[in-house]
Amino acid sequence: GERLTRDAYGRPMTYLRISLTDRCNLRCVYCMPAIGAKFAPRDELLTDEEIITVVRAAAKIGFSKIRLTGGEPTVRPHVVDIVREIANTPGIDDVSMTTNGLLLARLAEDLKAAGLRRVNVSIDTLKPDRFTRITRGGKIEKVWAGIEAAEAAGLTPIKLNAVVVRGQNDDEVADLAALTIDRPWQMRFIEVMPLEGVGDVHDSGLVTTAETMDLIEQVHGPLEGLEAPPGDPARIYRIQGAKGTIGFISPVSQPFCAFCNRIRLTADGKLRLCLLRNDEVDVRDILRSGGTEEDLIEQIRFGVWRKPWGHGLAEGDRNTGRGMSQIGG
Ligand code: GTP
Ligand code: 5AD
Ligand code: SF4
Repeated sequence: GERLTRDAYGRPMTYLRISLTDRCNLRCVYCMPAIGAKFAPRDELLTDEEIITVVRAAAKIGFSKIRLTGGEPTVRPHVVDIVREIANTPGIDDVSMTTNGLLLARLAEDLKAAGLRRVNVSIDTLKPDRFTRITRGGKIEKVWAGIEAAEAAGLTPIKLNAVVVRGQNDDEVADLAALTIDRPWQMRFIEVMPLEGVGDVHDSGLVTTAETMDLIEQVHGPLEGLEAPPGDPARIYRIQGAKGTIGFISPVSQPFCAFCNRIRLTADGKLRLCLLRNDEVDVRDILRSGGTEEDLIEQIRFGVWRKPWGHGLAEGDRNTGRGMSQIGG
């Protein structure tokens, strides 16, 4: 809108990703450590009201797109009510969710009715036993049921996310890409990012987008390049004649920081200014010490102004402070 808030580098900030919880009903190998993940105590998490208060303030300074993340957003109590409140906030015109899909079969219709537009669902493999290993216990049938329910409920267009991990699913990227031939989905391949707690996965060696794309083209032929919507972290392609599309998200080999349009709100009430840098600004204290909406807006502006230019992964800079499940991706 007219009240765009820009960061110090002139990038318009329109997209707020909200982590509803740091908890999850899975423990994916690239996201959480096998043991020793720490969860915030309940009283440190923002309440439903506090989240809505932040959304209202953000909407007044030009944030129009909200994505709910986790941990796993659907395990948060009252998630449907939270969606409804956010969707009803003046200025917010796109509310979406990134989910592992396990609970979607149960929730899809209610989420849609509450105003959720669409979902991005993580699915890293087509093989049930592999899925269980990568997610440390998940059942893939539930995810498929969730995706079907999301489609039936109209939470579309559906995007599927696969983090490509060497030795785990890099031999399956062409099969995953093949899902788009008959289905109007966008299958996205994501380079694994080295956040806290997943050192082993990262150390096995990055599978770059170039390598993934090559593996797909060997099977499906040359991919047709398409134009991506502004602010989209993915570069978009299509298998000849396919109904759906393929996206590549390359935070490591081709950082998209220059087009970054987002900040994050963590479940414990910090504005996280860059996914991959440990720069945060607190809003919980303001909410809990009688701060006004003006105070909150001031703090969001301050955070946006302090947003770093980008990450230094290519230079070996790995100061992320927290794990993926505490930030929400
Ligand atoms: P759309 O609204 O569909 O474009 O969603 P999205 O791609 O912004 O969200 P999603 O949660 O599906 O993210 C897909 C992947 O991109 C995840 O692995 C995220 O961690 C990664 N990602 C999203 N935003 C950023 C970002 O600002 N920087 C980096 N490095 N990675 C990001
Ligand atoms: N690197 C890249 N993507 C990741 N995700 C989780 N952990 C990582 C990682 N280390 C993805 C999930 C989900 C999204 C929010 O982030 O697969 O789709
Ligand atoms: Fe849970 Fe998503 Fe992390 Fe997997 S990627 S452990 S589903 S938060």
